[in-house]
Amino acid sequence: MSKFLVTGGAGYIGSHTVVELLKSNHQVVVLDNLANGYESCLRRIAQITGKKPEFVLGDVRDAEKVARILRDKRIDSVIHFAGLKAVSESVNKPLEYYDVNVHGTLALCKAMKKARVKRLIFSSSATIYGVEAPVPYLESMPRGKTSNPYGESKAVVERFLTDLSHSDPDWSVSLLRYFNPIGAHPSGFIGEAPKGIPNNLLPFITQVAIGQREVLSVFGNDYKTEDGTCERDYLHVMDLAEGHRLIAEQCGPKPGVHIYNLGTGKPVSVLKMIEHFEKVNKVSVPFRIEDRRDGDLDAFWADVSKIEHELNWHAERGLDDMLKDAWRWQLQNPDGYSC
Ligand code: NAD
Ligand code: WQD
Repeated sequence: MSKFLVTGGAGYIGSHTVVELLKSNHQVVVLDNLANGYESCLRRIAQITGKKPEFVLGDVRDAEKVARILRDKRIDSVIHFAGLKAVSESVNKPLEYYDVNVHGTLALCKAMKKARVKRLIFSSSATIYGVEAPVPYLESMPRGKTSNPYGESKAVVERFLTDLSHSDPDWSVSLLRYFNPIGAHPSGFIGEAPKGIPNNLLPFITQVAIGQREVLSVFGNDYKTEDGTCERDYLHVMDLAEGHRLIAEQCGPKPGVHIYNLGTGKPVSVLKMIEHFEKVNKVSVPFRIEDRRDGDLDAFWADVSKIEHELNWHAERGLDDMLKDAWRWQLQNPDGYSC
């Protein structure tokens, strides 16, 4: 059993991972500044697990405070989700993105060093493979040319965490490259609750399906894919959460840098997502084809053989589960956590 500090644990992926950690009898302290998270989410976690994680309201950039938490709460491992994640916003607010994502992780590492906590799992992204990488993406490929400050912030952090590990061989650093996480806990108690207009496809689909938005814009149907719309590797957020727990247990005790893709290895187009969502949930999603969105790539997906062979992890839930669970969350919580 370990005691984890989960930064960003009141957000989307963090909250699902906290559920998974508590279910496996680990102890959890959540640190979140609620920039995009919800304190009520922690009550929902307690409803699911019967255990309420400890919560500290605070900013990951506050190294003194983080060091105090690590020492006082006797933390042995950190899972670092806290960050800003909207690609288009990052283009307009680069300094904010580098400050939270890069400076935030630096401050966290300084605090960890001070408190002698040397096990870290970092939320990276498939975006670090860059705009020119061939598909599917393999962990052995170099980090590529990123096209926006968000992607670059993840690449920079990967780089300095690797340097940190080389400088002190006691560190265990896991760099997890997520593909497109979607869905929600099957209870419908926790899920993705974007503040404002959603940036990502699935929350947009569910908000159109429930009638909060009139129509879904499909960004381009002239890509080099089977039906012309972009293809992505969508994975269930609970598979992702289980992946974190497994990696924490298996890689945490092993010093060095551990790099894994977390995806299903199967690309699905935007039109297929809409069609499948309508079919499994028996609801209609009006859409219209619009111009391409800046920066979108035709198609990318994960090569998942490394994590399968080394850790025996593979995504267990299929598209039906992802889309049904996302819809249940939306129906039960039309206004997200505010109801
Ligand atoms: P999210 O916005 O739901 O969660 C992030 C959490 O971090 C929020 O609760 C927010 O309040 C908190 N936070 C932000 N800045 C903070 C700060 N300075 N101090 C403390 N807390 C802070 O996002 P998510 O989808 O759960 O993503 C989690 C992580 O995974 C992020 O680092 C993101 O970049 C990365 N990631 C997400 C995706 C995705 O599609 N969702 C894909 C790849 C990588
Ligand atoms: C998926 C597909 C859109 C909305 C982003 C980040 C990536 C990672 C995950 C953090 C694309 C299309 C979308 C809409 C649409 N995040 N779409 N209409 O762009 O693959 O990845 O989130 O690391 O770094 O870039 O995900 O969900 O935004 O888009 O047609 O209203 O859906 O064009 O093809 P994306 P997404």
